[in-house]
Amino acid sequence: TQTQSAPEPRPPLASLINLRDFELAFAKFAPPKSHAYISSASDDLLTLEANAAHWRRLWFRPRVLRDVSAVSTRSRLLGVDVSMPVWIAPMGLGRTGGPEAEAALGAGAAAAGIVHCLSTPASLSVEETLASAPGHPWFFQLYVNRDRAKTEAALARLARHHRDQVKALFVTADLPVLSKREADDRLRVTTAEQLTILPLPGATTGGTAATKEGRGGLARTTGSFIDPSLTWECLAWLRRCTDLPLVVKGVQTAADARAALAAGCAGIVVSNHGGRALDGAPASVLVLLELRRDCPEVLERMDVLVDGGVRRGADVLRAVCLGARGVGVGRPFQCAIGYGREGVARCADILREELETAMRLCGVTDLDSAWGDMSYLNTSEL
Ligand code: FNR
Repeated sequence: TQTQSAPEPRPPLASLINLRDFELAFAKFAPPKSHAYISSASDDLLTLEANAAHWRRLWFRPRVLRDVSAVSTRSRLLGVDVSMPVWIAPMGLGRTGGPEAEAALGAGAAAAGIVHCLSTPASLSVEETLASAPGHPWFFQLYVNRDRAKTEAALARLARHHRDQVKALFVTADLPVLSKREADDRLRVTTAEQLTILPLPGATTGGTAATKEGRGGLARTTGSFIDPSLTWECLAWLRRCTDLPLVVKGVQTAADARAALAAGCAGIVVSNHGGRALDGAPASVLVLLELRRDCPEVLERMDVLVDGGVRRGADVLRAVCLGARGVGVGRPFQCAIGYGREGVARCADILREELETAMRLCGVTDLDSAWGDMSYLNTSEL
C-alpha cells in the first residue's frame, strides 16, 4: 500500500546546466522506485555526504598571469586516449535511468570521447551495450559470482567477442555483501516496474529477477549472487581467466593499495561505492591523501582512479592535482539516461566545459603538468 506521487513532466534537456540538475530533474520525472534505487546510499548516508563535502573542503591555490588562451583536457586512462580524465562509473540496472539503459551510456560516452565501465548487473547484455558504439573502448566491471564457473564463462565470452573493445576489468571489492539502503528497501517495486526495470533474459547479470516479499530493495534482489569469500589470492585465478588489465575497485587504505600493486594490478579505484557500501567509510579525498602520505609509489606505478561525489569540473581538477589519473562519475549519468544518449553526452560535455574553465582560472593549461601537483591545492580545511 505505498503511495507514489505522479511524476512531473521532464524539463527540457537544454535547461539542465550542471550535473546536480540532472539528479534534481530525475527526482521529479522518474518513477519513485527508480529514483530510490539510484539516489540511495547505506544506513545514515554519512559516507555519501562526506564524499561530496570533502571535495569542497579542498581549496585551490590559483596561479595567475599565465597564458591560458589554449588549454587541453585530453588525457590517457588505462592506455585509452580520452577527451578528459573522466569515466562513467559502473552502475547496475541501467533501465532504472530510462529505456535506452546502458546503450545510452555507451553511445553518449562515445560521443563525448570518454569511457563507460559496464556493470555486471546491467539491464542489457554486453553485446547489446557494445553495439551502441561499435569500435569504441569500454571497461567492464566484475562482481565475482558465488558460482565461479559463471564468472569464468562470462570472462570467456568477453574475451571471445569483445577483446578489441573491452580494455580493462574492474573487480569490485568493497561490496562483499549487500549493504542496507533504506530508501530502496522501503519502496516495494510494482509488478509493472519489475517488468520494465529488471534485466531481461540474456542480460549478463547473475542476479535473480524476483523480488522477495517484504524486501523491496532492487540492489538486494540483483546483488545476491556476489561472492563474499573473495580474497587477494583469487586475483591469481582471475588472471588465469582473462588477459585484460585488472583494476581493483573499492580500495580505501594504503595497505590495500600496496596489496593491489603487489598483485600486479594495472590500477585501483579509490572508492566507497558512492556511499553505498560501508557507511562510515572515509570520503574518497581522505583516502587519496592517505595514499600520497603512506604509499606515494602506488600513485607513480599504477593508474590510481577515484570516484564518489564528483559533480563539478573543478572536482576533476582537484582529483588530478591529488594524483588521480581518472575520475569516475556515477549517479548524474544514470539520471541522464532519462534523456537518452543526448542527455549522457550533454552531461559529459558540461563537465568538460567546467573542467576547462577551472583549469584556465587556476592557471593550468594541460593536465599532465598538474598531475600530482599539490601546489595548486590548499588542504588546511581537511
Ligand atoms: C553503483 N555502483 C556500482 N559499483 C560497481 O562496482 N558495480 C555496480 O554494479 C554498481 N552499481 C551502482 C548502481 C548505482 C545506481 C549507483 C549510484 C552506484 C557504484 C559506482 O560505480 C560508483 O562507485 C559511485 O556511484 C560513485 O559515486 P557517485 O558519483 O554516484 O557519487
